[in-house]
Amino acid sequence: MKLFLDTAHISDLETAMGWGILDGVTTNPSLAAKEGMEFPDLVKAITDLVPGPVSAEVVAEDREEMVAQGKDLSEIASNVVVKVPMSKEGVAAGARLVDLGIPINVTLVFSPAQALLAARIGATFVSPFLGRVDDVGNDGLGLLREIVEIYAVQGYETEVLAASLRHPQHVVEAAKIGADIGTMPFAVMEKLFNHPLTDIGNERFTADWEAYQQALRDQKNQ
Ligand code: E4P
Repeated sequence: MKLFLDTAHISDLETAMGWGILDGVTTNPSLAAKEGMEFPDLVKAITDLVPGPVSAEVVAEDREEMVAQGKDLSEIASNVVVKVPMSKEGVAAGARLVDLGIPINVTLVFSPAQALLAARIGATFVSPFLGRVDDVGNDGLGLLREIVEIYAVQGYETEVLAASLRHPQHVVEAAKIGADIGTMPFAVMEKLFNHPLTDIGNERFTADWEAYQQALRDQKNQ
């Protein structure tokens, strides 16, 4: 499973790039709003930094405007993927963008039926929002499982991008279910590294190494 960051925050993206594990980026209007930059400049800065797919969302209400915005966004860089919302207008705009050869990510997906529509129009990515499904007392991972199963049975090429992941266990379960991509906040990605036994093991190795070196020095000085 590829690992994406769900952020528009440049320094977090730089850090994750430095870790060598960042496959791509998803943004949304709420994340962009935190950065205090014009949106096209922000998208340019992210695409300059991350070579993988960078999702940038349209914000218009009708399909014509969404298509126009999508075309503008796609001209910023070759790795822009235009995010369109799951709605009649969003799907219609997405279908047009796909016809124009522009890759799209259908976002705000909360049901298998919606995921079918995304595959039908040839979306590059479909984004079920697991955490938000859990928030309303439903089963986000169950939704992901159904979408992955339907896509496998039908042979759809649309990649399943598990979104709204809230903790490392969401990431692990999404991988087990067969999501193609998991997108997560920086804090969740950072937590993937953590295990208390790793910390204890590292401390012990360091202490043992230092004691070993000290013993060698003492031997030489005798
Ligand atoms: C995905 O593309 C979305 O931006 C995102 O995962 C939403 O996550 P949230 O529910 O934590 O806002």
